[in-house]
Amino acid sequence: MPALNAPRAHWASRFGFILAAAGSAIGLGNIWKFPYITGQNGGGAFVLVYLACIFLVGLPIMMAEFLIGRHGQRDAVGSFAALEGKGSPWCLVGWGGVLASFILLSFYSVVAGWSFDYIFKALTGGLSGRSPDEINALFGQLVGSAGQVIFWQALFVAGTVAIVIGGIRGGIERWSKILMPVLFLLLLLLFVRGMLSPGARAGLEFMFRPDFHKLTPAALLDALGHAFFTLSLGAGTMITYGSYLDRDADLFSLSLRITLLDTVVALLAGLAIFPVVFAAGLEPGAGPGLVFQTIPIVFSGLPFGSLLATVFFILLAFAALSSSISMLEVVVAYLIDEKRWPRLLATLLVGAAAFLVGIPSALSFNRWAEVTPLFGKNFFDLCDLLVSSYMLPLGGLMVAIYAGWFWKGAEEKAELVGPTRRPWLFPLWHFLLRFVAPAAVLIVLLNQIGILTG
Ligand code: PFF
Repeated sequence: MPALNAPRAHWASRFGFILAAAGSAIGLGNIWKFPYITGQNGGGAFVLVYLACIFLVGLPIMMAEFLIGRHGQRDAVGSFAALEGKGSPWCLVGWGGVLASFILLSFYSVVAGWSFDYIFKALTGGLSGRSPDEINALFGQLVGSAGQVIFWQALFVAGTVAIVIGGIRGGIERWSKILMPVLFLLLLLLFVRGMLSPGARAGLEFMFRPDFHKLTPAALLDALGHAFFTLSLGAGTMITYGSYLDRDADLFSLSLRITLLDTVVALLAGLAIFPVVFAAGLEPGAGPGLVFQTIPIVFSGLPFGSLLATVFFILLAFAALSSSISMLEVVVAYLIDEKRWPRLLATLLVGAAAFLVGIPSALSFNRWAEVTPLFGKNFFDLCDLLVSSYMLPLGGLMVAIYAGWFWKGAEEKAELVGPTRRPWLFPLWHFLLRFVAPAAVLIVLLNQIGILTG
C-alpha cells in the first residue's frame, strides 16, 4: 500500500495506458449494449448518428477529460479543486462523476454477472447442440432466477475489487495488456463468421443502410448517451485515468486511438451479431438478451463450438472487468486522494456498497420485475436511464463548457492538446468543445424532456 505522501503512481508505459483506457471504454457497452440498442432503434440511421456523436462530441470531450486529470494530478473531484481552488462549483462536476460511476458499477455488475454464468454454461457443454429456441429460453431461465443473478453479480464485484486492490500498475494495467488483444482477435473471427453466414447481407443492410424515418427523439438521446457510455465519459473515469499520465503524453493521438479501437469493436460486435439475428429469424429489437441469445447460436454451428463459446464469454467477462475496475477506481481514487483512506479499505467498502445497491437491479429481471417506481420503469432501467441518458451527457457537457469557456490557462491548453506540428488541432478542438458538443447535448436533452417539442 503506498505511503500517504508517496509520489503519485503513473502508468508503466504509454501502451499500458492505452490498453487500460481502451479497456475502460471497451466493455459491455460495445458488445452487449451497442448491438441491442441499435436493434431497438432500427439500425443504420442510429449508427450514423452514433458515429457522429462519437467523433464530434465524444472525442473532444475525452481529450478535455485527460487534460483536466493530467493537469490536476488527482481524482475527479480533486482535479477540479487543483485547477479552480477547493470549494469551486466545478468540483460538483467531479462529484457527479463519482456518483455516476458508483451507480453504474452497481447495475453493470448485474449484466457482467450473466457473462460469468454463460462461461459456466459453455464450459459444461450446456450451450451446444441446442436449437435457437432453446438458447433463447436459457437466457430467460437465468435472469428469471434471483438467486443465480445475485450470486454471479457478487462474484463479479469481488473480481473487480480484487484487481483494484492491486492498484493501477499491478492490477489494471497488467490485466488489460493481456486480455484486450485476445478479445479483439476473437471478435474478428466472429465477424468473419457473420460475414459468411446467410444473414450477412441483411445484417449489413440493417447496420449501414440508414432509414431516417426511424430516428425518434428517444433514438437521438440513446445515440448521444451511448457515445458517452461507450467512451466512459462524464463519469470522472478519464479524468482519473488521465491523472496517472505524465506531462509529455500526446493526448490527441492517445484519445484518437482509444476512440477508434472502441468504435471498431462496437461495429465488429454488431457485424458478428446481426447476420445471425437475421439468419436465425430472431428479433433485432429483442433487448438486453440479444448477445446472450445470438452468440451461442453462432458457436453451436462451428467446430470446437463449446470451446470457442467458453473463450468468448471469458473475454466478455474480462472486457466488462476492465470497465468495471475503472468505475470502482473513480470512487476509490476520490477516497484515497481527498479523504486519505487506505486503498484496501476504500476498495472493499465501495465494492460492498455497490453490490448492495445493485441488488434491486438484479431483482428487476425476476422478483421485482413488476416493481416500477417511476415512469413505468423497473430499477435496472431507471438506473440505466439516469446514468446513461442524463448523468453522463450532463457530466460531459459540463466538462466541455469548463474546458471550452472557463478554464483560464488557454495557452496551456493549446500547448498540451496540439503540439505545433498540428496547427489545426487546437482551433478545431476548441470549436467542437465550445459550440458543437454543448449544442448537441443541450438539444438532445431539452428535446427529451419535451421543452423543444412543446
Ligand atoms: N465504457 C464502458 C462500456 O462501454 O462498457 C462502460 C463505462 C465504463 C462507462 C466506465 C462509464 C465509465 F465511467
